[in-house]
Amino acid sequence: MARHVVATVDDIAPGQRKLVQVEGRDIGIFNVGGEFFAIANRCPHEGASLCKGRVVGLVESSEPGSYQFSRPGEMVRCPWHGWEFDLRTGKSFCDPRRTKVRAFDLKVEEGAALVEETLLRAETFPVSIERQYVVIEV
Ligand code: FES
Repeated sequence: MARHVVATVDDIAPGQRKLVQVEGRDIGIFNVGGEFFAIANRCPHEGASLCKGRVVGLVESSEPGSYQFSRPGEMVRCPWHGWEFDLRTGKSFCDPRRTKVRAFDLKVEEGAALVEETLLRAETFPVSIERQYVVIEV
């Protein structure tokens, strides 16, 4: 499994998201209060772009007229038909056992470590000098 640098932490403010392409896949990177999560940008219902969905909290109800709000900013609502997915797991709120969007492992790492690992280095090529030059100092 290859690792890819997709953004700096400053690229995605809390509550925002960024759509990236990695090995041909569209992936949404979401910043939830300083924690980052990655999910496929394709709703399993009919394929809408989840990155265009509204980020919301979890609303649950045990009886009519009563509701509890929790986990602000941890769910994304599909822009087409409103299915909601947990950004931490990719699981659907309504049917978490059978319906989910793919969630990807994501880490925030120090730039110095990525340079050591060559993930942030430019590609280099060997260079040679084949001719000689005469140089005079005056
Ligand atoms: S396409 Fe996402 S809920 Fe229908």
